Amino acid sequence: MVTTPLLPSDYLDLVSPLRAGADLRGRIEAVHPETADAATIVIRPGRGWRGHTAGQYVRIGVDVDGRRLWRAYSITSPTNRQDGRVTITVKAIPDGKVSNHLVRRAKPGTLVQLDQPTGDFVLPEAKPAKVLYLTAGSGITPVMGMLRDIDFDDVVMIHSAPQPQDVIFRDELHDLVAAKKLRLTEVHTDTDGVLDIARLDELVPDWAERETWACGPAGLLDAAEEFWSERGVRERLHTERFRPGIVAAGDGGEVTFSATGKTVEADGATPLLDIGEEAGVLMPSGCRMGICFGCVTPLKAGAVRDLRTGEITEAEPGVLIQTCVSAAAGPCDIER
Ligand SMILES: Cc1cc2nc3c(=O)[nH]c(=O)nc-3n(C[C@H](O)[C@H](O)[C@H](O)COP(=O)(O)OP(=O)(O)OC[C@H]3O[C@@H](n4cnc5c(N)ncnc54)[C@H](O)[C@@H]3O)c2cc1C
Ligand code: FES
Repeated sequence: MVTTPLLPSDYLDLVSPLRAGADLRGRIEAVHPETADAATIVIRPGRGWRGHTAGQYVRIGVDVDGRRLWRAYSITSPTNRQDGRVTITVKAIPDGKVSNHLVRRAKPGTLVQLDQPTGDFVLPEAKPAKVLYLTAGSGITPVMGMLRDIDFDDVVMIHSAPQPQDVIFRDELHDLVAAKKLRLTEVHTDTDGVLDIARLDELVPDWAERETWACGPAGLLDAAEEFWSERGVRERLHTERFRPGIVAAGDGGEVTFSATGKTVEADGATPLLDIGEEAGVLMPSGCRMGICFGCVTPLKAGAVRDLRTGEITEAEPGVLIQTCVSAAAGPCDIER
């Protein structure tokens, strides 16, 4: 009664936001530029942080222009870091709300919301004899978490970036090469063109014997999955995608968020999660790429299209949709 309308925990948050029992938060303690458009954010997680396995990602909730937005970022620090801090490394993408905020505007002292780390793009408990990392652009981040965590006897990496100065962690990678802990091929796509996956036979002749972790744009991962499948070694390839592969867009429609009382026009290619957030509707979300089911929402009326497959779902009682990979297919009503 004394603190109404705030809760006692709201006052505790002011003095001790990282305490045990509070919603999991972290404090940004430093921001280190890595390249012209990428930076490493050093975060001290609060008391409830359970730690991560190399290669996993964390969802982070950041306030951008007064709105809390959630995105996933791979953890780039090793699991045994002594000071209890963790790092993520973010590449700013054109028009990207959260990535530009974190790379260019985040300040030490800022509190962010955190989820527990998750993800199955991780190293196995039994060390493989030979490892290949196939990465491009910001796809190097989960692999850097692995490289910093465990030494393997025989590690090869093929990394693509437009130019040498765009290679995130380049100095550290070259230190590993000098220490004979890594064999590295850099592909500079501005001059060399995009990596033709068939060049693996020449670049890493024993690639099929290697346990491989690949992370990068859809084009690289699609090509790798096909290549490994054709050679009958698909089970040796582990991939991580940062965004869903959108193959099917159609006509959009008028979207109603009936619980909030908002109606907006949507095209047939933009996920309803983005449409709702843009309209100021409180939308639950997780990975934003169709894997965690953190965004499922009842479809009250109309139809939506699954952007990954083109499949249309029509409203009927009990039908749930994943808003992060569904777009309007005509007028529809989403129960938010
Ligand atoms: C498991 C996982 C791990 C991830 N780890 C990292 C990481 O370590 N470092 C990192 O920088 N990013 C990582 N991402 C991507 C990150 O979550 C965001 O998608 C990215 O930062 C863009 O968010 P934004 O708010 O800046 O862009 P938004 O404002 O959401 O989008 C702006 C525009 O960019 C497009 N877009 C959205 N995401 C991407 C993308 N990844 N690449 C290209 N275009 C995009 C959108 O379609 C839109 O047109 C990861 C994603 C996942 C699912
Ligand atoms: S947010 Fe993870 S499935 Fe939609």
